[in-house]
Amino acid sequence: MSADAEPFFRITGQRRLSGELRVNGGKNAALPCLAAALLSDEPSRLRRVPDIEDVHRFLEILSALGVESDVAADEVVVRPSGVCSGSPPDGLAAALRASFLVMGPLLARTGQASCGAPGGDVIGARPLDVHLAGFRALGADVESIGGRTVATAPRGLRGATIVLDYPSVLGTENLLLAAVLAQGQTRIVNAAMEPEIVCVADMLNRMGARIFGAGHNTITIDGVEQLSGADHELIPDRIETGTLLIAAAATRGDICLQGVRPDHLEALLSKLADIGATIRRSADQLDIAVPSDAQLMATNLQALPYPGFATDLQAPISALLTQVAGTSIVHERVFENRMQHLDELRKFGANIIAGGAAPVIIGPTPLSGAVVRGTDIRATAALIVAALSAEGQSRIFGVDHLSRGYTDLAEQLRDLGADIELAQSADTLTN
Ligand code: EPU
Repeated sequence: MSADAEPFFRITGQRRLSGELRVNGGKNAALPCLAAALLSDEPSRLRRVPDIEDVHRFLEILSALGVESDVAADEVVVRPSGVCSGSPPDGLAAALRASFLVMGPLLARTGQASCGAPGGDVIGARPLDVHLAGFRALGADVESIGGRTVATAPRGLRGATIVLDYPSVLGTENLLLAAVLAQGQTRIVNAAMEPEIVCVADMLNRMGARIFGAGHNTITIDGVEQLSGADHELIPDRIETGTLLIAAAATRGDICLQGVRPDHLEALLSKLADIGATIRRSADQLDIAVPSDAQLMATNLQALPYPGFATDLQAPISALLTQVAGTSIVHERVFENRMQHLDELRKFGANIIAGGAAPVIIGPTPLSGAVVRGTDIRATAALIVAALSAEGQSRIFGVDHLSRGYTDLAEQLRDLGADIELAQSADTLTN
């Protein structure tokens, strides 16, 4: 598709964001919870499901496995009675990383599972060794056949102690999803501690699983023979919440976000306070205010596994740091190639000195409107943040990436006063 025929966001910057809104349920909580529904014969109801492309693709995968689902507003009922030992179609597996999450439940329930290479954002090597070593520890045979992963456990899975080489988020989820129906006890040591792990463990426990310690670095699972369906509400999307807070700070705004979990965002909130934003919080609400004449100050940060600063917010906050006074060093320590937004930020006039995984951002630099392209979900969000604070009009390509992970970011920003619209074709270009 030529760039001229693609949809893009047209943004006129320097509108101060203000107002209030309720955030959507979490993308990275929805996907493992949809996979968890495969573990029972009974239907499960998920509430607060975000209306995003990755969820739509995952529902298509379930349908290809013989599992019906009904979607009404932000609720999804998954009816897994027809689950078979199928495999996601390769095209759908390649559409998102979380497609690989069907492996754990299918292996646990049917003794065999296979999946083509999962896709997802191109942000560096994304191996599967943590998942595969874990399946093997649970007694499965795992092979790679023609680029597909094939796992079999004809005599069922057996509990084991699994020490993860890295606290992989999807790896921990896949092993939880497999171990809940294994015979005996499993311990996952060096487990990921993200809130999404707790969300899926809560759902599994509602289904009758016996999981202890989710949210800590060692999780114990006592296997059970079968699980029932569950009714489960997803946690709010902490990355959507964080992106909106960052956008508000970048426009010297004043917004209130409702239905959030401030305790899931400690690292971001601490950095926003360091740079000089005023944050007010209650159990489920966050307010951020930055006066229009405020001089925000530089800070350094490292993107790390939770509870460290979220790698998914590294690109958006980098856009904000171009607007603060001083030198900020942003060190990406989770993914090896998650800096593709930097060249695009420079097109707005940002002063960024390349430093491999730890670039130096020098601010404040006045940004001016630019034509740029997001290369992944969070890079596209970062370019939107830059455009909101830039003088003049910008065009942001990479809309497809954004719609994989944000329900309605452009609409939310418009409701908060941003001048942002989705333009559909070359005819509407007026830059
Ligand atoms: N890793 C391994 N071996 C593995 C798996 C991962 O070495 O078997 C390494 C990766 O190479 C990477 C690091 O571990 O360097 C982190 O990867 P992880 O497996 O934790 O990431 P993920 O589970 O594939 C999820 C989110 C990502 C988020 C990361 C880190 C979902 C669907 N995706 O990916 O979300 O960035 O955790 O928090 O939950 C996004 O939403 O934009 C996104 C990319």
